[in-house]
Order: sequence, then structure tokens, then C-alpha cells
Amino acid sequence: MSKLEIKNISKSFGDQLVLQDLSFSINDGEFVSILGPSGSGKSTLFRLIGGISSPDSGAIYIDGEKINGKRGAISYTPQASSLFPWRTILDNVLLGQEIAGKIDKEQAVKMIERAGLKGYENEYPHKLSGGMQQRVSFIRSILSPQSIICLDEPFSALDELTRLEMQKWLLSIWSEHKRSILFVTHNIEEAIYLSDRIIVLSSKPAMVKKEFTIPFKRPRNEDSLLTEEFLQWKKLIYQELKD
Ligand SMILES: Nc1ncnc2c1ncn2[C@@H]1O[C@H](COP(=O)(O)OP(=O)(O)OP(=O)(O)O)[C@@H](O)[C@H]1O
Ligand SMILES: [Mg+2]
Repeated sequence: MSKLEIKNISKSFGDQLVLQDLSFSINDGEFVSILGPSGSGKSTLFRLIGGISSPDSGAIYIDGEKINGKRGAISYTPQASSLFPWRTILDNVLLGQEIAGKIDKEQAVKMIERAGLKGYENEYPHKLSGGMQQRVSFIRSILSPQSIICLDEPFSALDELTRLEMQKWLLSIWSEHKRSILFVTHNIEEAIYLSDRIIVLSSKPAMVKKEFTIPFKRPRNEDSLLTEEFLQWKKLIYQELKD
């Protein structure tokens, strides 16, 4: 049960203001996507939520508790692959559980298989393609025990079909476990298909430009991607991003 609140966050690097007075929140079990131009500050925002760095002003709360600069409060998958080269795929996947002191190897092996990586459990990351590594990072995040998961473009390196498979898989895992997900993507379709809500950021310095509540019923399937209503949403959000 977790609610994430971002309140009036600002962040600069030198004299460059990247995030300006940014506020939004994510309710328990909600799936929220962030869309915004490249360089607008999305990954910076994630690093702040993940406690890798701290905001200059403003605060981040989980269930009312301030977590500025605190690591481990959420499960965070960075944009670039963050696998440890000296750990096998299985041991990479189990990292979050290991830190929490509760390991379920059988479940991890199942997940690896489901991601189409059967047989790679005991290999090292350098043997995998970029897209395969991305899937491993994603599984690690999903298997971590935190109730809020932040995913920074987890499927960007995947071909269309694999991406669709992973999206469906993510939705099924999410509906089973009902955790809160904050998801960064550049893909408008992906955001609509997956999300309860979409937050559109302005270009740098990033502010919340617009929020959309996506009304499509769940469980969703890929057929919804082809409806007229879906296309309307795509146009609307595209327009908002472009302006
Ligand atoms: N550690 C840092 N030091 C200096 N500048 C930084 C640092 N991290 C990010 N920036 C700058 O902050 C801005 C936002 O970067 P960020 O990675 O958050 O963008 P993004 O929205 O994730 O972009 P993309 O969609 O391309 O991933 C960029 O101008 C970047 O150069
Ligand atoms: Mg980024």
C-alpha cells in the first residue's frame, strides 16, 4: 500500500535549471506514465525518486514519509542497463530480493523463462544483446519487494513484437501484484495502452504540462490498440507533446 507524492521539486545542474517546481502524485496500485521531450529531465526525476541524488528544493514522500536522498524506498530501473557484469543473469535478477533478505529462485527462473531468456540463467550479461539485458533489468525490478516501481524506458531497445509481449506481461504482473508503477516512455501508444494516467512534461525546465486520465477498461488487450478511440487519444497526446 503506497502512495508516492512529489511536491514542488526543483533541480539544477550548475546554472541549468532542469526541473522546476514539479508536483504530482501516484496513488496506491496506480499505473502512471511520463511523456516528455528528450532532455526534459525525466531520468533526473527518477534519480531523485530513487534517492541517487537529492532535489535542491521540494520533497518526495512515500505514504507521508519524506524520502529525499534515501535509496531503496522504491524499486528503480535506470534507463541504461545496470546489470553487474560479474554476476550471472539469475544472480542479477535476484539482487533486489537478496538485499531484502528473501530470495525465491524458482520464481526468478520462471520469470526469466517467461521473458524468453530460458537457458541464460547462468550466463553473464556480456553474452546478451542490449534488448535481452533490458529484459533482465526489468525482471529484477519487478521481483524487488518494494511497492513502488519506477521504470525508465524499460522496453526502448526491443523490437515491436517483443515490446508488445513485454507490455502484456507487465500488465499481467501488475494486475496480479497491484503495485504502483511510474513508467517513462517516448512511445505514446505504449503509454496509453499501459496507463491509468499520463503526465506530459514540458521541455526543460520540466513542469507538468498536462495530465490525462485514460478511460480504457481493464484488462486491456492489444485489440484496443486498433480502435478509433485509441487513435483519438494518440492524436490528442501527440498534439500536447508537440505544442
Ligand atoms: N549529472 C548531471 N550533470 C549535469 N547535467 C545533467 C546531469 N544529469 C542530467 N543532466 C542534464 O539534465 C537534462 C535532463 O536530462 P535527463 O537525462 O533527465 O533527460 P531525459 O528527459 O531523461 O531525456 P531522455 O528522454 O533523452 O532520456 C539534460 O540537459 C542533461 O544534460
Ligand atoms: Mg532519460
